[in-house]
Amino acid sequence: MSTNTSLKKSLSIGLTLGVSLLWLFDAITSGLVVQKEMNESFDKALKKSAQHILPLVITDSFKQQNNDKLGIPTLENDDEYLTYVVKDQQGNVLLRSKDANPQIFGEDLKIGFSNTSTHRIYTTSALEHHVYIAVAEPLEHREEDLMEAAIALLLPLLFLAPISLLGIWWIIRLSLRKVVIFQHAIEERGAGNLSPVEMEKLPKEFKPIAVAVNRLLERLRRTLEAERSFTANSAHELRTPLATALAKVQRIKSITQDEQLKRQIADVESSLKSLSKQSEKLLELAKAEGGGAISQQPHNLVPILKMIVGDFSRQTPERIKLTLPTGDINSLLDPDAFAILARNLIENALKHGRANRPVEVSLLEDGTLRVVNECDLVAPQDLALLRNRFVRANTTASGSGLGLAIVDAITSGAGIALQLKSPAAGKQDGFEVELNVNPRTGSSD
Ligand SMILES: Nc1ncnc2c1ncn2[C@@H]1O[C@H](COP(=O)(O)OP(=O)(O)OP(=O)(O)O)[C@@H](O)[C@H]1O
Ligand SMILES: [Mg+2]
Repeated sequence: MSTNTSLKKSLSIGLTLGVSLLWLFDAITSGLVVQKEMNESFDKALKKSAQHILPLVITDSFKQQNNDKLGIPTLENDDEYLTYVVKDQQGNVLLRSKDANPQIFGEDLKIGFSNTSTHRIYTTSALEHHVYIAVAEPLEHREEDLMEAAIALLLPLLFLAPISLLGIWWIIRLSLRKVVIFQHAIEERGAGNLSPVEMEKLPKEFKPIAVAVNRLLERLRRTLEAERSFTANSAHELRTPLATALAKVQRIKSITQDEQLKRQIADVESSLKSLSKQSEKLLELAKAEGGGAISQQPHNLVPILKMIVGDFSRQTPERIKLTLPTGDINSLLDPDAFAILARNLIENALKHGRANRPVEVSLLEDGTLRVVNECDLVAPQDLALLRNRFVRANTTASGSGLGLAIVDAITSGAGIALQLKSPAAGKQDGFEVELNVNPRTGSSD
C-alpha cells in the first residue's frame, strides 16, 4: 500500500472488507450447521414416514391380496413428494406408490439410510424381515431448501457492505474534521504568525503531534525573534557611529584643499552612506518580519502616498505620474508599514527604471496600488526570486537586495498578495508591482 494513501479510504475499505469477510465466514459456518440440522430433520421425517406408511401398506395389501401392483393412495395427491416401494425378502416388489420408479430403489435391501445420485432412501422392514419398505425423497428438494437458507444468510451482505462502507467513511470523516482544522491552523502559521495551534478539540491520538508542532513553533518563534532582535539591535547600534563617522568625513572633505584626498574622502563618504542605508533597510526588514503590519483602526492611505511621492518628486522632479482615487482609501494596513512599502517600491522604480523615463504610481478606488516603470525585461526565473533577501537581478544601480524582501514581509504579514510582473501589463517590457492595500481577513505567512 502506498505510504500516502488516504486514511479515510484505507480504513473504510479495510473495515468494510473485514466486516464482509467475517459475515461471509459466519454465513458459511451457519450454512453448514443449518445443512447438517436440515439433513437430520429431513432424515427423521423420512424415517417417520417409512415407519408410518409400512403398517398401513401391510394392512391394506393383505386386505387386497390379489391386487398386486395396485397403486395405493399416495402421500401427496398429484405430485408425490415421497415415493416408496414395498418388497418381499427376495426383493420382489409387492407394492409401490403411484409415482414410484423401482429403478431408483435398486436391488439392495439394506436397512437404514442410503443415497443415490438423485434420492435419499430410507429402508426398513417389518414382519421379521419378510416385508421391506424403501421410502425415497428427491435430493433436489433438500438442495432447494438449503439454497433458500443460504440466500437468506447471504442477502444481508448485499446491504451490509455498502452501508458499512458509507457508515465508516462518514464516521472517519467526522472524526478527522478536527484534524483538518488543525492542518489548516498549521498552514496559516508562518513568519508573521507563529502562535501555538489549538489542540484541545483534537482526537487523543493526534495530541502528541500537536504538542510536537507547538514545541517546534515555539522554538522557531524564539529563533526568529533572536535573529530579528539581533538584526534590529545591530542596525540600531550602528546608526549613531555611522552618522558620526559620516559627519566627520564630510567635515574633513569640506576643509581639505587637496583634490585627490577630496575624491578619496568622497568615496569613503559614499560607502558610509550606503552602509547607513543598508543598516536602515535591515532595521525596516526586522520590523516588517516582526509583524505589526495590521493596525486596529483603518487609516486613510491617500495622504501618506501623496506625501511619499512628494518627497521623491523633490529629488527627481516630473518623473512620477501619480494617480489617486477621488475618495479616501481606508485600510487596516498599518500606516508606517504602508509608508515603508510604498517608499521601497517607488525607490526601486526610480532606481532600476530607465533613466529619466516616467514612473507611474496609481492607487485605485478598490485599493489596488500599482507601481510601473520602464526597464529591460526581467527573466521569469529571476523574477520569482526577487522577493528573497539580498537577491538582485541585472542592475547597475546601487543597493543591497533588501527592498522587495521588506515589501514581501509586510504584505505577507498583512495577508496581502504581492505581484511582481515583467513585462508590465500591456507592455513589451518594463516592471510592474501590484497589490491591494485592503488586507484579507486572516493573514498568511
Ligand atoms: N521597479 C523595478 N524595475 C526593475 N527592476 C527592479 C525593480 N524593482 C526591483 N527590481 C529588481 O529587483 C532587485 C531586488 O530589488 P530590491 O529592492 O530588493 O533590492 P535593491 O533595490 O537592489 O536594493 P535595496 O532595495 O536593498 O536598496 C533589484 O536589484 C532589481 O534588479
Ligand atoms: Mg530596492
